[in-house]
Amino acid sequence: MDLQSVLCWRAALLLLLMPCGCRCVSVHILNEEPLHVIPGSGLVLKASIQPGPLEKVSLVTWEREAETGAAPTTETLATCPGVGSKCSDTKPNVRVDVEQQGTTLQINGYSRADSGVYAVTVTDHRGAKTTAHCIVREYEPVHHVSVSVNVTHSSLVCGEAWGTDPHFSWLHERVAISTTVGKVSGDGSMLSVTMSPICGHFTCMVSNKMGYSSATYTAAPCETEGRGMTAAVVCLVLLLLLGGALALLLWRYGNAHTATGTDTNLISGSGHKAKH
Ligand SMILES: *[C@@H]1O[C@H](CO)[C@@H](O)[C@H](O)[C@H]1NC(C)=O
Repeated sequence: MDLQSVLCWRAALLLLLMPCGCRCVSVHILNEEPLHVIPGSGLVLKASIQPGPLEKVSLVTWEREAETGAAPTTETLATCPGVGSKCSDTKPNVRVDVEQQGTTLQINGYSRADSGVYAVTVTDHRGAKTTAHCIVREYEPVHHVSVSVNVTHSSLVCGEAWGTDPHFSWLHERVAISTTVGKVSGDGSMLSVTMSPICGHFTCMVSNKMGYSSATYTAAPCETEGRGMTAAVVCLVLLLLLGGALALLLWRYGNAHTATGTDTNLISGSGHKAKH
């Protein structure tokens, strides 16, 4: 067998092993799932369609069904009879296009009711169907932030209920955490406190695209804060004392000066008197 026939056999074998790879339409949703959509904004789902060399797309349908529930009902959103033709959209805020390489579904003014499992089905000219799915959920704001203390491990744990894609950050006395205060875990939700004793206010801030929320754990007041205050008071008292002493000195100096002046006057007065 020469090289060419070996390659030929290999190609034939590959075709036999992967019949779908070459002989069916392939469809693939390009969005990452689950896709989270902010209420009121637009939802855009894109799918690529790759017909085999002998296939023609004869029908594209977009459907949706609830993600959970005992018997989710399937709702047809649009039906498109092939490339370039107009789709029949069933809802006013839904628009579907079909092009040579793919199809796009667009929903304006997304609401909670638009959440679910979206399915795009491509039917070829022989009636063979291929379907791709994508889970779409509502983007939730940050909910119920709390800070709990793990006494045995001297750490603080920040909790958040069901917000989408929460990002955690920590503050100590409204300043970002330094290494002298503690170390934040990789995902940000836990703070291992290294300062001893633990004191002051620890705030956990949780944010996502829709806003942020925070919670604060208050430990005993910091000693250094007290010391700082004491130092300030001592300083103030010292300054007052110094000022007082200075004023006293000046007053006495002034007095002594005036006294000398009077003396001179007296002397000159007596001089006058002496002249009379
Ligand atoms: C404290 O943290 C450790 C380590 O993360 C964990 O194993 C333990 O269960 C935590 N204790 C409490 C009471 O949460």
